[in-house]
Amino acid sequence: MANHVEIGLNRTGIATSPRLAQEMVEGTREFPPMTNGDERTIGLRRGEYVRESEGLGSVPPPTSLKGMAKTALQGVLGQRPTLMLDKLSERLAFERTGVRLYEALISKLEAAGSFEGGPTREELVEMMQEEYAHYNLLTDVVAKMGGDPTVMTPSADLHATITRGVMEAIVDARTSLAQALEALLVAELADGDAWDSLIELVGEAGGEIELQLFESAAMEEAKHLERVRTWIAASQNRASGELSLGA
Ligand SMILES: [Fe+2]
Ligand SMILES: [Fe+2]
Repeated sequence: MANHVEIGLNRTGIATSPRLAQEMVEGTREFPPMTNGDERTIGLRRGEYVRESEGLGSVPPPTSLKGMAKTALQGVLGQRPTLMLDKLSERLAFERTGVRLYEALISKLEAAGSFEGGPTREELVEMMQEEYAHYNLLTDVVAKMGGDPTVMTPSADLHATITRGVMEAIVDARTSLAQALEALLVAELADGDAWDSLIELVGEAGGEIELQLFESAAMEEAKHLERVRTWIAASQNRASGELSLGA
């Protein structure tokens, strides 16, 4: 599969047939909407749902409050244990999905091959293993805090919804490896930011050991982001993945 797009028989645009386009526009005048509602009605209905909603669920209490008190990790939960467990569970779920993203990329690479300056299989495998290690790290931390690593917390749910399109784009058989990498970029950008905020939270709560472990995970994530940017640049024959913002 080519890693660059080509000119072809794309008929999705109105300019494909000026005559039929004109007829279509005339048709909208001949058959106006059957109801009187407009987008404000949709907005009002959405508002009703928002007011009735109970939110994205909750964080269960730690399974072992007693066990938690015994451990030095008690401090890590800090003043805001619910927020901390929510965000740790979010990262845990995201890293688990990250493994799946890399698995899907590896199978695409195996089927279609890479491109000049693109990823090698070994690089993708290495990154997949790092995501898996991060997932394991978070599983340990959540369990030590008396949390349940299998819980889908509100923030885990939110982030799964936000990035659903990333997985869809990567597993879509029609996307090239380069296109799939653009989807991966979205995940790695969000991942990097989320690790940074988690590190701040843990730092404020005084979790020394976790801070070190999380910082080394964040360094690996920074490397992921740099690699993905470089591969995308190579797929477009740009010299480098370095972006100068507002220079
Ligand atoms: Fe990650
Ligand atoms: Fe990553």
